[in-house]
Amino acid sequence: MHNSIYSPAEDSFMISENLKKEIPKLIKKNPDLKFFEIGSGSGINLETAFGFGIKKQNIFSSDINPSAIKHCKNLGFNCIQSDLFEKIPKQKFDLIIFNPPYLPEELREPKNSKSATTGGKKGNEIIIKFLKQTKNYLNKNGKIFIITSSLSEKINFEKLNYKSKVIDRKKLFFEEIYLWKLEDFV
Ligand SMILES: C[S@@+](CC[C@H](N)C(=O)[O-])C[C@H]1O[C@@H](n2cnc3c(N)ncnc32)[C@H](O)[C@@H]1O
Repeated sequence: MHNSIYSPAEDSFMISENLKKEIPKLIKKNPDLKFFEIGSGSGINLETAFGFGIKKQNIFSSDINPSAIKHCKNLGFNCIQSDLFEKIPKQKFDLIIFNPPYLPEELREPKNSKSATTGGKKGNEIIIKFLKQTKNYLNKNGKIFIITSSLSEKINFEKLNYKSKVIDRKKLFFEEIYLWKLEDFV
């Protein structure tokens, strides 16, 4: 059975809206900015990155879900199947974004949507794994945009060696989601 592609939701829109504000500023400083999205899903953030000035050849993406890969490739983006950075060739990016599966395990969650939403028993396990791997792929002064939820265990970004700042937040019916901007402590 194929997993369904995540339909853009509040979290997707929160990243996309903030990319629209941040990308033009970043491009001004570095017109050759290299962008990478893990878990690109429907490609909504790839479209935003392209629409707001990142060169298509500098936009890279991946997903664990083959249906999402096929979809993003059909949109004309470079997209490869990989579990986090497992299959990503060694290189450096200036902006890495991830709207990750960030919720604690919910046993009733159907299997075909689970991999887009469930981050592990505490909800933050995939994010922590991602943040450890990202170190090898982030350029000096590079930035990470990532979403977390109030329903999951808090992440100690400092302990993982990242400077962190909440740049947007949104109250939903039963949770609050946060968009973080992270930078490596060098
Ligand atoms: C919440 S959805 C976000 C999709 C899209 N970026 C958006 O903002 O609408 C999470 C995405 O991450 C992908 N994903 C989940 N675990 C992953 C992993 N270990 N490595 C790569 N992608 C993963 C899912 O297949 C899904 O497409």
